[in-house]
Amino acid sequence: MRKAKSILMILSALFCISCSQSNANNKQNENNEKQTNGMNTQNSQIETSKDKVLVVFFSQAGEQYSVGNIKTGNTKIVADYICKYIGCNQFEIKAEKSYDMSYNDLIKLAKQEAADGELPAFKGKIENIDGYSTIFIGGPVWWGTYPQVMFTFFKEYDLNNKTIIPFTTHEGSGLASCVDDVKKAYPNANVLNGFAMYGHDVRSNEKKVIDWLKKLGF
Ligand SMILES: Cc1cc2nc3c(=O)[nH]c(=O)nc-3n(C[C@H](O)[C@H](O)[C@H](O)COP(=O)(O)O)c2cc1C
Repeated sequence: MRKAKSILMILSALFCISCSQSNANNKQNENNEKQTNGMNTQNSQIETSKDKVLVVFFSQAGEQYSVGNIKTGNTKIVADYICKYIGCNQFEIKAEKSYDMSYNDLIKLAKQEAADGELPAFKGKIENIDGYSTIFIGGPVWWGTYPQVMFTFFKEYDLNNKTIIPFTTHEGSGLASCVDDVKKAYPNANVLNGFAMYGHDVRSNEKKVIDWLKKLGF
């Protein structure tokens, strides 16, 4: 028990150190974000006039790294900017279990879920997923990828043969392995490069989201 506690403390410390190494990481992440705002030349065509667009996202309000206690999660703010600009429907992935807890407790729980490969259940369902040809998928980076409950969603909804546009909010990891993990979940989808934004930046930088959407052709 004591050993497990020590490991968790070390992991928490490592995560905090990685977040606080922002100066060293910022340049890399800026590059990462520059790259990720671009598109694959092969699969960059979004037929905006034809497409019915859905934004699927997970976002956790409450105590968050770097922004304090927030009423609206960082990723939800980006999801709202997207739909305000292009007009689209949203599906928010809400876990049946509660993640309403202190930040420190949440990072421990999330770490354990990832280690166990847990697939937490989520509430609700999407009516007529076949009606959407372009789907944005967004979430926070939790321990290097999307939260486990998003993987539950990936298991339950087959988005192969659709265009998927991944995005993240994060505090230093950029896209982390989120795009690769979406590609693994949907090997036959047209998965675009993705877009990453610092969580502490979303409230003051709607323009960055709009610029990205314009580059995508919306
Ligand atoms: C459990 C947990 C794990 C996290 N792991 C990472 C991480 O590995 N890398 C990172 O850059 N940020 C990490 N963060 C910070 C979040 O990605 C960031 O605050 C994000 O904007 C939160 O979005 P949300 O408010 O939409 O949930 C973590 C936050 C939590 C709560």
